[in-house]
Formats: sequence, structure tokens, C-alpha cells
Amino acid sequence: MSGRTDTLEREHTCGVHTPAELSENERAHVCSIVRQYGRVETEGLPERIERAWRIATASDGGRVYALAAIKRPDRSYLERVSAASEHALDPAWAELGWFVTLPGYRGRGACTRLVRALLAEYTGTLWVTARDDDTATSRVLASIGMAPVGSGWNSVLDGRVLHLWLKQTPGRRSGGRLSQSTNERTFTNE
Ligand SMILES: CC(C)(COP(=O)(O)OP(=O)(O)OC[C@H]1O[C@@H](n2cnc3c(N)ncnc32)[C@H](O)[C@@H]1OP(=O)(O)O)[C@@H](O)C(=O)NCCC(=O)NCCS
Repeated sequence: MSGRTDTLEREHTCGVHTPAELSENERAHVCSIVRQYGRVETEGLPERIERAWRIATASDGGRVYALAAIKRPDRSYLERVSAASEHALDPAWAELGWFVTLPGYRGRGACTRLVRALLAEYTGTLWVTARDDDTATSRVLASIGMAPVGSGWNSVLDGRVLHLWLKQTPGRRSGGRLSQSTNERTFTNE
């Protein structure tokens, strides 16, 4: 796996990658993890993974066991979230998501570590949707200065209440831009 990596405990590595830096097999593995555990719409997921801005992974012996990502928000999804939450979202803002730690690795700080690794590369405004009853995700989001905004709505997947969370950039109310990556020059909205 290419990209920037840090050694954690023996056999454990943590890295932040562009999708192109992951092999086809690694992207397929990321996709299967999100599909199985991510509680997200799975239609078009491989394409959305290829469009992601950064994917952070934690691996054990080369096998990914936790991930988180900064995504390029799809315009129609952004508009649906904005309408449901009754809170305006700037298309230039990035979306955080795909928080998954495989059972057996949870509660050991993996998700927190990956989200912080992503934030080390992106300083703009971020939004994310999270279930109100997802304590672990809420704690990660609160720990990086995110806060729920707007109104809650019911997930079409399971009827649970979702909320929009926002991390504003101090003094930059219009939001941030994604900086250049090895294979992408600008952040384009879709
Ligand atoms: C959400 C998830 C990724 C968290 O991963 P994780 O690696 O276990 O998270 P961390 O170890 O970094 O813990 C983050 C915080 O949540 C807390 N936490 C972890 N598991 C918890 C649980 N089951 N109940 C309550 N709090 C929990 C931790 O104590 C920590 O809080 P603290 O920093 O205040 O002590 C993981 O639970 C998961 O994969 N869930 C299923 C997928 C999902 O629903 N993802 C969210 C939607 S995309």
C-alpha cells in the first residue's frame, strides 16, 4: 500500500491515501467493509470511493481493519441533507464519513486516530451525518470540535434519527478548499 504511513504497534500501520494510491484490491476491500458495516447507501459506492479525496486506513499485518474518509460530496446528496437538516451546506465544504472499525478492533482509538490523521491534511469546513444513538461516532466528532446543527431527520435505511454535524473553520465562514493531491488538482463538486 502506498501513501503516507505511520507505524503503530507491531504489525499495525496507519496511512492516509488518495484512492489512486490504493490498489484495486485494496479499494475493493475498503468497499466491502463500508458495504458491510458503514450504514450507507451502497448503490454507486465503488465510484464514490474512487472519487473520495482521502481515505485513511489502519491495517494489521497488511489487512485493513479500520477506515475513515474525506469525501467529495455529491451535489444531489448534499441538497437532500441540507433540506432534511434545514441547514445550508456550501458545496465547497468536504464531507467526512465512512467511519468503520471492524469488530474486535473497536474501542482502541483507531477511529479517533484516523480522523485526526485526515484533519492533519484538511483544514477547511467539514460536515458529516451521524445517528443520534451512535455514541462512539458522536464522541469522535465532538473530540475534533464538531457540533450538531439544524434539525434531525429519520434515516431511510433504518428509521433512526440522523443529525448533521459541522466543523467550521474559524474566520472562514465560506468553507475551505481541498488542497492539491498527487493526482487531483482541484476540488470539483458533482
Ligand atoms: C463508530 C466506530 C467507527 C468507532 O470506532 P472505534 O475505533 O471503536 O472508535 P474509538 O476507539 O476511536 O473510540 C471513539 C470514542 O467512542 C467511544 N466508544 C467506542 N465504542 C463505544 C461504544 N460501543 N459505546 C460507547 N462509546 C464507545 C470511545 O470510548 C471513544 O470515546 P473517548 O475518546 O471519549 O474515550 C465503530 O464503532 C464502528 O465501526 N461502528 C459501526 C459502523 C458505524 O456505525 N459507523 C458510523 C457511521 S459511518
